[in-house]
Amino acid sequence: SATIDSVREYPIDNLASFVQVPASEPPTKLKELIDTWGLIKHGEGGYFKETDRSPFVMDAPTKITKKGSWEEEETTKLVLLKRNYSTLIYYLLTPDSPIGKMHKNRNRIIHILQRGKGQYVLIYPNGQVKSFRVGFDYANGEVSQWVVPGGVYKASFLVPNEEFHNGLLISEVVVPGFDFEDHLFMSGYDEMVNLLGEEKAASLKFLL
Ligand code: GUN
Repeated sequence: SATIDSVREYPIDNLASFVQVPASEPPTKLKELIDTWGLIKHGEGGYFKETDRSPFVMDAPTKITKKGSWEEEETTKLVLLKRNYSTLIYYLLTPDSPIGKMHKNRNRIIHILQRGKGQYVLIYPNGQVKSFRVGFDYANGEVSQWVVPGGVYKASFLVPNEEFHNGLLISEVVVPGFDFEDHLFMSGYDEMVNLLGEEKAASLKFLL
């Protein structure tokens, strides 16, 4: 996507203390937001709420493999999957849940920053790693819109900030709409080593 093609690369170092060891509780202001909106714990880490799901349903043309998997390699046939046209969520990282774990989605996901600061780490099928900062400090290369391609692994972690009580609040739009069948966690460290080699994998292990 044009949103990240030439995005400033950011090193993955100087992790915040609460990224290394999560806090026991969210800061009061973030706890209030979680309670007011009724955000719930996400399986990836962080908190979320689906705020919209299109009532319209499409037959989404989808390439799958013989085994029925949706991994890009050796796709063999086209099936039509019933999917809502779109979904929209809020997604929140907090010091007590500061990491969105490495996973991929079949479809591209549009991310829009609402508040705070974070860092994204993408791993492409060829092993390329791209890491960038999300925030409103455009002069320093941060972005507030980013589209992650389908089939690309994604993880995120919190960056300390005063603007939003050490939180990161984003919106995510998926087309076709989110379905668990389209979601896959990285299977584990072995898969990461296969993609990146030992050294790089060791430095990104905290995102599994
Ligand atoms: N349910 C569980 N995870 C998700 C997600 O990431 N998006 C949506 N829309 N629903 C979910």
